[in-house]
This record gives sequence, C-alpha cells and structure tokens, in this order.
Amino acid sequence: MTYDDAIKALSSDALKFVKDDYVIGLGSGRAATSLVKSLSKLIKLKNYNIVGVPTSLQIKLIAEKGGITLVEADQVEHIDVMFDGADQIDSQKYVIKGGGGALLRENILFSLAKKIVVMADKTKFVKNFTRTVPVEIYPLARNSVTKSIKKLGGKARIRLIDRGYPFFTENGNIILDCNFGTIKNPKILTQKIKQTTGVFESGIFLRKPDVIYKAKDNGKFDIL
Ligand code: A5P
Repeated sequence: MTYDDAIKALSSDALKFVKDDYVIGLGSGRAATSLVKSLSKLIKLKNYNIVGVPTSLQIKLIAEKGGITLVEADQVEHIDVMFDGADQIDSQKYVIKGGGGALLRENILFSLAKKIVVMADKTKFVKNFTRTVPVEIYPLARNSVTKSIKKLGGKARIRLIDRGYPFFTENGNIILDCNFGTIKNPKILTQKIKQTTGVFESGIFLRKPDVIYKAKDNGKFDIL
C-alpha cells in the first residue's frame, strides 16, 4: 500500500468533523491534498455551504479545481476545523511542519482553529523529534539567525531547490532547516527560536492538534 492509499483512507474518515456552514482550514502537502479532494466531493454531494482557507498556492490550486469557495485568513474570525499533514509528531503530540515551506500560514490558521486534525503515516511518529526544524526568516537575517541557532545548539542550513537556487516562501522569505539532533524539550526550544530577531516562524508548533490520524500499512489507521 502506498503513502497516498494510506492517507486516502483516513482523510475520508476525517470528513466526519465537517459540518454545513463551516469555515475550514486547508493545510498543505500530500495529506491535505487528499483531504481537500474528498472534501470537494462531500460539498457537492451534500450541497454544503463551506468556505475554505488555503495555507499555500499548492493547496489553493487543488481546492479551486475541486470547486471549493475560498477566502484568505484575514477575512475570517475563526476556523471551525483545520486539516493538515505533518513532517514529524513526537510523543507529547507536538508537530514539526514546514517541509513544504507553508509553515507561517499554517500556524496562523492553527491559531484561529477551534479544532485541528492532523493526518500522517506511521513513519512520521517518533518519541522525540529527530528531523530538522524549518525556520522561516527574513532573508537578510541569514547570518544573525544562523549564529543564534548555533548558540541554541543547532546547525542551520539554508533550504535550496534545483541547481542551488534558494527556496523562497510565498511570503518572500527564506527557510533555514535547523538540525538540533534529538529534541527533548520542543516547547522551550521553540520559544527561544521565536524570540530571535529576523525569525517569522518555527516549524515546531506550540498548539497541539486535537485529533491525530496515524495511518498504518494495511489501509487501517489509529486515531490518537
Ligand atoms: C507544508 O509546509 C508542510 O507543513 C506539510 O503539511 C507537511 O510537510 C506534511 O506534508 P505531507 O502530507 O506531504 O507529508
């Protein structure tokens, strides 16, 4: 069973959190894409009056194709339910996000959400975080933030795309992927990262999801 099959099975189940007249936060990435495709079918089937708030152009294009009515984050007072994927989930239920670079808008929607549903396959679940933490920064703060990350015990590397070009977020910023080894205290680390001048967002989100779907190999899943 592929990643996509596993995520498809649980994203259909996650639609049980959707009600008519809801404002829905649309995360970015493969899990969010699967959810958005199922959501657009549900809206058509039930003739629901749903508004979606996208976190990136990537998911906006999928939602537009599915005919979902969209507004931006600054046009809503709250999000009834936010659906998103994650890059890693630790045993305290903190998540690392930003593998696709959409962390700033994702975290804005997390902060507006009444309920957050995160969907990921079992490979993303760890006791303590081990992967790099994406940190979105102002481009000219590259050296100063790199020094601050070093003081926090990390090693920052600028995210690049093909042929060595820098990756720019949709907000015109760059991302430092920061290696802290095993992260035992994500809350304190995040607070320190976010206090750094030039940092817009850290990929460790302090708001924990309310519902976490963990996809297994056989198309089944656990809800945590
Ligand atoms: C986007 O920046 C990310 O936060 C994604 O939500 C995250 O990378 C998970 O993506 P997948 O569902 O594609 O693994």
